[in-house]
Amino acid sequence: MISQKQYCNEEVSRKIDELLSQMTVDEKIGQLHQLGPSPVGGFEISLDELKKMLDAGAITQKEYEQSARGFKVDEREDEVRAGTIGSFLGLYGAEKCNRMQKVAVEESRLGIPLLLGFDVIHGLRTVFPIPLAESCSWDMEMAEKTAAVAAKESAAVGLNWTFAPMVDIARDARWGRIAEGAGEDTYLGSRFAEARVKGFQGESLADPENIAACAKHFVAYGAAIGGRDYNTVDMSLQTLYETYLPPFKAATDAGVATFMGAFNDLNGVPCSTNPFLYKTILRKDWGFNGMVVSDSMALQNCLDHATVADRADVARQALQAGMDMDMHSTCYHDFLKELLENGQISMEDIDTAVTNVLRIKFALGLFENPYTDEFLADKVILCDEHRALARESAKKSIVLLKNNGVLPLKKDVKIAVVGALADNAEEMLGTWEGIGRGEDCISVTAGLQNAGVQFKFAPCCSLDGAFDEAELSATIKDADIVIACVGESKEDSGEASARCDITLPGRQDEMLAAIRAQGKKLVTVLFNGRPLAIPEAVENSDAVVEAWHLGVEAGNAVCDVLFGDYNPSARLTTTFPNHSGECPTYYNHLPTGKPAAEMKYTSKYIDAPLVPLFPFGYGLSYTEYAYSGLSANVTENGIDVTVTVKNVGAVDGEETVQVYVHDVLASRSRPVRELKAFGKVFLKAGEEKQITLSVARKDLEFYDMQLNRIFEAGDFEIFVGHDGTAPLSGEVAVE
Ligand code: NOJ
Repeated sequence: MISQKQYCNEEVSRKIDELLSQMTVDEKIGQLHQLGPSPVGGFEISLDELKKMLDAGAITQKEYEQSARGFKVDEREDEVRAGTIGSFLGLYGAEKCNRMQKVAVEESRLGIPLLLGFDVIHGLRTVFPIPLAESCSWDMEMAEKTAAVAAKESAAVGLNWTFAPMVDIARDARWGRIAEGAGEDTYLGSRFAEARVKGFQGESLADPENIAACAKHFVAYGAAIGGRDYNTVDMSLQTLYETYLPPFKAATDAGVATFMGAFNDLNGVPCSTNPFLYKTILRKDWGFNGMVVSDSMALQNCLDHATVADRADVARQALQAGMDMDMHSTCYHDFLKELLENGQISMEDIDTAVTNVLRIKFALGLFENPYTDEFLADKVILCDEHRALARESAKKSIVLLKNNGVLPLKKDVKIAVVGALADNAEEMLGTWEGIGRGEDCISVTAGLQNAGVQFKFAPCCSLDGAFDEAELSATIKDADIVIACVGESKEDSGEASARCDITLPGRQDEMLAAIRAQGKKLVTVLFNGRPLAIPEAVENSDAVVEAWHLGVEAGNAVCDVLFGDYNPSARLTTTFPNHSGECPTYYNHLPTGKPAAEMKYTSKYIDAPLVPLFPFGYGLSYTEYAYSGLSANVTENGIDVTVTVKNVGAVDGEETVQVYVHDVLASRSRPVRELKAFGKVFLKAGEEKQITLSVARKDLEFYDMQLNRIFEAGDFEIFVGHDGTAPLSGEVAVE
């Protein structure tokens, strides 16, 4: 694992000082300037889309014209030669990247290489399950491996930096970007943050197979009010420190090279210009030595936050807050020099940011070798080994939500397949598909063919409202089993895809009801990027398989589960509400003064059940596990929880043992329960194993009203079991 210390060793510091002493102001500012493919938001945008933005007043005529002309990052050679661009977003392809690195290294005055970043969120061309899906595996080794493969493929196309992992805690399923993270839990999210950083960065950034990671979005972006993307975040500092910061701290401790600021404001101050975040928390308190980049156009967006007078003012505020690199807004490029000349910023402000950027370039070994083997991509991209890992991770991400015994299916029954998502390979990619292609993906119908299963297929119901009942009747008439592939399109989650109604889009619910009405056995397979509020769909189905957006091997993995070649082992990392109106909903809430109960004057909705549709940690398997012999022993380091788990069913399986803790009495109200340890254990049918899981003493601490981190001695309740509703198993006193 890389440590933060490695970014600023003496030798590197000396080299950086030497460079700084030779750099002009323009060259220094160049290092802080990142550009993307289009002047509008850093993305390639279609002409249609551009025109719409122009008509809506979202972009100026000048921006429109520049973009429409086809502003391309690989046409910026002159600026790179002049040393006035330090990084690109969205430039990839070994040959293109080599050409641009050559200009930077061999044709610019000081030969400083480029940082080449891209959103490699769940794989590059080998697209893995969306991060939310992968988090349901609770498998850190797997997360590390998939990130390592993503890094290897990225490096093979000339990239050296990914804008991942997203480590935002998300408690509101309406927020589309819940798809990009590890769910609602801080402890689990922190473990995934570490694993993914380790996977991308490996043991050394200088290894040509590794790339720099980026912990984003700093901070609390997942707490946008109402789940509406980019919305205000208003929260107590205690909640910030206890719930939202820990995954970022874990990423820092795992050696993450870079951070990205969030779009949102935090209690009124835009994250892009908030010195408390970068100077105090990140640098002073956590000892972060890497570099911080803004989100795309986020500096420019401060004009709309209305906390800056103009673009020059935002450049000043952001730089002085500790924002090292400006992604795409050109505020630094356009104004830092003027601000320096006017004495509004100092050379030291600029040098500090440049130093942070150069550290990462040194750590990546780019000064020694910025080039990529141009024959590598063909060998590694989407190779058999990577595909095999994609199938493995996809199987492990599928959560079995309901099964009345219909699953696993036999291959020789009469099967009908319906639903718009059944034969749509491209939809399997999910949000942020890297450079993934629909043609690489296995749909469910293709997976069934690969498995040698006979079936009859017709979509019958689109995602946007067209439902052909006659087609449905004709398709399912002779079937014993109907597999309905329903859910959300990949565009329905991810950035700028908040939904206020998180039920099944269109008339898909109606289709499921119609299948049920015809007396057919119904297996519903869900493809979605967020928890859905689907009580009727669950009620109408004999089995419900949560398949998320699983990437290139989706269809094969779904079939592995449907036919019992893989015994599902995944567990939800987000709560599924009964109704959209329950959002935000999460298991580790405070008890309140009137805890929810079946009586008036308690904290609940009068028109919704007391419990969620599916709780955090939930997931079924084709076997069952019995727990016995529980004990909890207090040690110097915390609490050791020991339990015997037995596979009491007829098939082998993997159980995720979950340990939750509740602080019985504290000076601030504490969550009703919080995950504090977990372990995965593989058990053959009939086998039992004793397992000990340790709750760290530091994880029993919390923040007092003065924001001191404290431990209060006293009793702690321990809950151990299969999911977030695991029964109480004991109480221990910790001194
Ligand atoms: C905006 C997104 O918020 C961020 O996550 C992403 O990395 C950048 N755009 C760059 O694409």
